[in-house]
Parts: sequence; structure tokens; C-alpha cells
Amino acid sequence: MSVVKINVLTVNPEMREEIEKRFAGRAGLVESAEGFEAFELLRPVEGQDRYLVYTRWRSEEDFQRWTQSQAFQHGHAQAAADRPAGHGHGHGHGGPAASGAELWGFEVVESAGPKRG
Ligand code: HEM
Repeated sequence: MSVVKINVLTVNPEMREEIEKRFAGRAGLVESAEGFEAFELLRPVEGQDRYLVYTRWRSEEDFQRWTQSQAFQHGHAQAAADRPAGHGHGHGHGGPAASGAELWGFEVVESAGPKRG
């Protein structure tokens, strides 16, 4: 059964552009993780003000393995709070662009996509 893990990011209005830039320049390693199924960065436009980082995984174990991997750490190099500005991989600035993060977890009960014919 697939699971959905959503990281909910609180982003100050002046940091919105920065966080979107960071995701535009993200490491792109998650695509190669075992059991990875989907990723979306969702910008709040109605009813909420937090960004959602939507991910779907084949299983809980696959998600846990990714969070403990080098790929996860590398994919969060810019987000790491203790990284001094100007080091790392050359895009964006150091330090966190989000002022808060909360993890939501779900099991996929039903799902559908467009009919193909
Ligand atoms: C303290 C917690 C977290 C914060 C503040 C955070 C923030 C960020 C930021 C700003 C980026 C853009 C890249 C960068 O700036 O380094 C990023 C990448 C990403 N984050 Fe997080 N994140 C956190 C934890 C998580 C968790 C628990 C998940 C699981 C759903 C997640 C999913 C992702 C994914 C899929 C990427 C793209 C990585 C890639 O392309 O390989 N993050 N995160």
C-alpha cells in the first residue's frame, strides 16, 4: 500500500520566492530513491498559507530509508540551518528558508488518474 508524506512548510512572505527558487534548483535525487512514486511542491493560493511538499512512496519502509539516506541530506543541504552562507553547492543562500516544518503521513486508500484510451 502506498503512503503519502507531506512536509508542511511555514514560509514568511518575503521568503516565498527564495523557497520556490530552492526547489527549482533542488538536488533531484529523490527521483532515484527506491520506492519513490511522486513529488509535488504545492504553493498555497486558497484557504491555507503553508507550502506543502507532497511525496508518495511504495511503502513506509521506503520513505524511512530515504529520510535516513545521504540523498535526503544532500537534498536538504540548503535547508540545513547550521550551514554558513556561501558554502555548499553554489545556489541560493545558506540557512533555512522555512521558519517551520511539520510532517503529515497518510495511507492511500483509493486513487485514480485520467482514463487512457
Ligand atoms: C525540517 C524539515 C524540513 C525543511 C525545513 C525542509 C525544507 C526543504 C527545502 C528548502 C528544500 C529545497 C532544497 C534546499 O533548499 O536544500 C527541500 C527539498 C526537499 N524536501 Fe524538504 N524539508 C524538510 C524535511 C523534509 C521531509 C520530512 C520531507 C518528506 C516529505 C521533505 C521532502 C523534500 C523533497 C522531496 C525535496 C526535494 C529533494 C530532491 O530533489 O532530491 N523534506 N526541503
